[in-house]
Amino acid sequence: MVIPVRLGPHSYAIVVERGALGTLGARLSELGVGSRAALVSAPAILRLYGKTVVASLDGAGISVATVEVPDGEAAKTLPVAERAWNALLEAGLDRTSTVLALGGGAVGDLAGFVAATYMRGVNLVQIPTTILAQVDASIGGKTAINHPQAKNLVGAFHQPRLVLVDPATVSTLPEREFRSGLAEIVKHGIVLDAQYFADLETSAAALLARNLETLERIVGGSCRLKAGIVERDERETELRQVLNYGHTIGHALEAATGYARWTHGEAVALGIVAEARLAARLGLAAPPTVERQERLLMALGLPIRAEAIDADAVLAAIGHDKKARDGRVPFVLAPEIGRFSVVYDVAVKDVRAALASLEA
Ligand SMILES: NC(=O)c1ccc[n+]([C@@H]2O[C@H](COP(=O)([O-])OP(=O)(O)OC[C@H]3O[C@@H](n4cnc5c(N)ncnc54)[C@H](O)[C@@H]3O)[C@@H](O)[C@H]2O)c1
Ligand SMILES: [Zn+2]
Repeated sequence: MVIPVRLGPHSYAIVVERGALGTLGARLSELGVGSRAALVSAPAILRLYGKTVVASLDGAGISVATVEVPDGEAAKTLPVAERAWNALLEAGLDRTSTVLALGGGAVGDLAGFVAATYMRGVNLVQIPTTILAQVDASIGGKTAINHPQAKNLVGAFHQPRLVLVDPATVSTLPEREFRSGLAEIVKHGIVLDAQYFADLETSAAALLARNLETLERIVGGSCRLKAGIVERDERETELRQVLNYGHTIGHALEAATGYARWTHGEAVALGIVAEARLAARLGLAAPPTVERQERLLMALGLPIRAEAIDADAVLAAIGHDKKARDGRVPFVLAPEIGRFSVVYDVAVKDVRAALASLEA
């Protein structure tokens, strides 16, 4: 499946295809980029998929320097970015060269930031290998490193030239990591597409079994939904807020527990449940709409209940939400499956009640 992302001069394609890794070299030649590339990735991912990528580039006559970065969030620091800039310089990369990001969202964000800043911007190709990176982080051009005081504080918008998704790569993901990524897929269905949501309901078992055909269709469908939003709101002004569904409370749950208790996707699953219940409390959504969301999350092995939530800490974290405008925190709510509305001025007591309902 090839999904076009139409952004004028910044347009690109998302290719979702089993075996896509082996087509990288040919696709780069088609794009007409220069003959030098840097492959940015973490050691464990390189061991799994590095050979296939390098062989494909060799086949197309593209020389490649490998830049190893630490695993996970530890990659998103200024010292790592600096080491990467040095490596690019040493390998002789110029304005026509390409940075390839092979890995999860962390590698993608770091490599994207390096590509956005090296020589004021070089070609970037995202080759995401986690579900979260495939359906979310690799699409949309947001790149960032962390600041000691805040995640993703320093970054730039830099659209990739190509996003290459090989659904087969997620076969090696740890189970918890795999399921966590599915929360973003569920999110896309709830707020953007009822038919897609229904497909998820019928495909839950095949998805969990990582059936390749199912993965290709579902991951591709989710990429298409995110791409549609990015096309209409490249710089994240208003519309992209919709992608924050489940995240206002989800992020706050993560922050209030020091990012240690839940993975991002687990916190988003709980955030979805709480925000679904909030919508019901406010009279915006009917109970069956809430129940369908919970049932699907549960079928995908994601949490829908949690004990011992420190509501005060979560409410404080919501108050610090980056998305707040003039101190007002917008909530994206789903009046029914496939639709959303943005609601400001939600009363604290209603958020508190929604949080409390997670314990029931
Ligand atoms: N730029 C954006 O728009 C955007 C959007 C959402 C999230 N993000 C960022 O993405 C990051 C999270 O991404 P993530 O969830 O992919 O986590 P991650 O990048 O930390 O990867 C998770 C783990 O899985 C491993 N891994 C990756 N692919 C694998 C594979 N195929 N087989 C086995 N192991 C594999 C990684 O080495 C790592 O240990 C965060 O830093 C977040 O800020 C960015
Ligand atoms: Zn998320």
